[in-house]
Amino acid sequence: MCGIVGYVGPQDALDVVLEGLRRLEYRGYDSAGVAVLADGILATAKKAGKLANLEKVLAEHSLPEGTTGIGHTRWATHGGPTDRNAHPHLSADGRVAVVHNGIIENFAVLRAECEAAGVEFTSETDTEVAAHLLAAAYAETPQGPGRLAEAMRRVSRRLEGAFTLVASHADEPDTLVASRRNSPLVVGVGDGEYFLGSDVAAFIAHTRDALELGQDQVVEIDCERGVTVTDLAGNRVEPTAYTVDWDAAAAEKGGHDWFMLKEIAEQPQAVADTLLGRLGEDGGLVLDEVRLSDQDLRDIDKVFVVSCGTSYHAGLIAKYAIEHWTRIPVEVEVASEFRYRDPVLDRSTLVVVISQSGETMDTLMALRHAKDQKARVLAICNVNGSTIPRESDAVLYTHAGPEVAVASTKSFLAQIVACYLVGLFLAQVRGIKYADEVAAIVADLRRLPDAVREVLDRMEPVRELGRSLADADTILFLGRHVAFPVALEGALKLKELAYIHAEGFAAGELKHGPIALIDQGTPVVVVVPSPRARESVHGKVVSNIQEVRARGARTIVIAEEGDEDVVPFADHVVRVPRTPTLMAPIVTAVPLQVLACAIADTRGYDVDQPRNLAKSVTVE
Ligand code: F6R
Repeated sequence: MCGIVGYVGPQDALDVVLEGLRRLEYRGYDSAGVAVLADGILATAKKAGKLANLEKVLAEHSLPEGTTGIGHTRWATHGGPTDRNAHPHLSADGRVAVVHNGIIENFAVLRAECEAAGVEFTSETDTEVAAHLLAAAYAETPQGPGRLAEAMRRVSRRLEGAFTLVASHADEPDTLVASRRNSPLVVGVGDGEYFLGSDVAAFIAHTRDALELGQDQVVEIDCERGVTVTDLAGNRVEPTAYTVDWDAAAAEKGGHDWFMLKEIAEQPQAVADTLLGRLGEDGGLVLDEVRLSDQDLRDIDKVFVVSCGTSYHAGLIAKYAIEHWTRIPVEVEVASEFRYRDPVLDRSTLVVVISQSGETMDTLMALRHAKDQKARVLAICNVNGSTIPRESDAVLYTHAGPEVAVASTKSFLAQIVACYLVGLFLAQVRGIKYADEVAAIVADLRRLPDAVREVLDRMEPVRELGRSLADADTILFLGRHVAFPVALEGALKLKELAYIHAEGFAAGELKHGPIALIDQGTPVVVVVPSPRARESVHGKVVSNIQEVRARGARTIVIAEEGDEDVVPFADHVVRVPRTPTLMAPIVTAVPLQVLACAIADTRGYDVDQPRNLAKSVTVE
């Protein structure tokens, strides 16, 4: 939520910052702005709307060339998405420029204090207060190296809430400082140049060498002095260095019209890479990054899976597999509710938090609550070095590669696979499954990349179907057993991309109310579980298809190869390869992603950056 870029070095800062903003725009696109420090003056440009609007402004009136710059792409919280509220914000004397991600919760008190001192505010944002406070703190800080960093520490100590702040001062032409609490910030280390970014995409075109910043830390990047990190008291801290394991090409569209299409196409690889190195030669599992002892894992008597949105749906699917394989009770909960209902947690509870970005504030707060209650926390995450894995007791990375489209696709499939690995690992360590049983499931997992490839090869009829559904007012999604969360995910994809009312239901719940929604021609997508699923769940879903069709629904049925029972009641059948019951979500989710994408594209919407959304939700 909000993308931040900072640069000091020999290149034209405006070019570097704009390039970084292009790669971070998925984080928010309500407005964009830049500030460049040239000849002792901070020059800024900012514009409401997407980055393209700012670029148009800059094409007409460029900024002077400078080698220090900051930039911001915004997802609005305090103050509407206007030019005035766009970042950077300047201090009253124009000597300090600040960009911010997060929410300064005590901004009203601080603003009143500044106003009492005679400062006139020019925006409705919480951020502007930081610019004024920083200018005042700078004036009170003794001259010398590190002055701006010291001023930033003084200000940061006064702030409550979540923030990444990056600041430039007109008197310090080769320096930027930044501070972080509960919001992301990484440092890029180049050859004689340094970068700041909300994530590594901001500087991946220049360097893959990065530094992680911890909670409540301040960093100074300076052309001469390099990188200096301290805590808020000014004590030096050694940051953790790492090398990013993907390059700039991975963050490009690669010939696809949308990042989302590219990411859908990358799903076989995402699944394969998430399995890579984790399946032992003997058919068992090797999960070295799970830093919990076998005894810890044997002591677990309850599992919570906590996450948001698509990651929550991955958790719902995981419940079926983990309970079935381990016989440990599993509860799945949206992170934004978890801590407020006082869940019963103790040392023998395992809390699995799932997050693509590793920065989702609701999930982070749930994680901290779980740790306060002494539960063990295992993170499933896609972004190396992000806050959620850093604060967890153990981590299992989904190696899906960078996901740029706001709507999650490849990381969803990778999350399901990672959850399954956790479930199998628990079953293995606890001796609930014999080695040959684990090996058989591992063999099923190994076949998934090919199965997803097969689905992708058959998607043209789904795209065509999508084009024919572009005028629908409502589309309903039904499923049972593991197909139920897949239906929820199909509905979410459609809502967020195509702005069409969509709902997912457990097919059996339909007759308890929602069936009243069905009208002549209402499209109903039914995700049919495998005919080999538990008891007669398949037969019951076939009956549900008949029930909605009898009431006028246009039925779109996702069914596996060879399932002929659905044919008489389907207006459209989308075939997926035959897979074991618990593996089916990995293949059935794919046509629903393609369908939502095709409908949104036909309606003329920006598939990668749907309205009102941001990829990384760093506010509660
Ligand atoms: C939907 C989507 C969101 C995210 C949710 C959690 O397509 O992308 O619902 O799944 O905001 O984000 P992470 O996984 O980054 O915690």
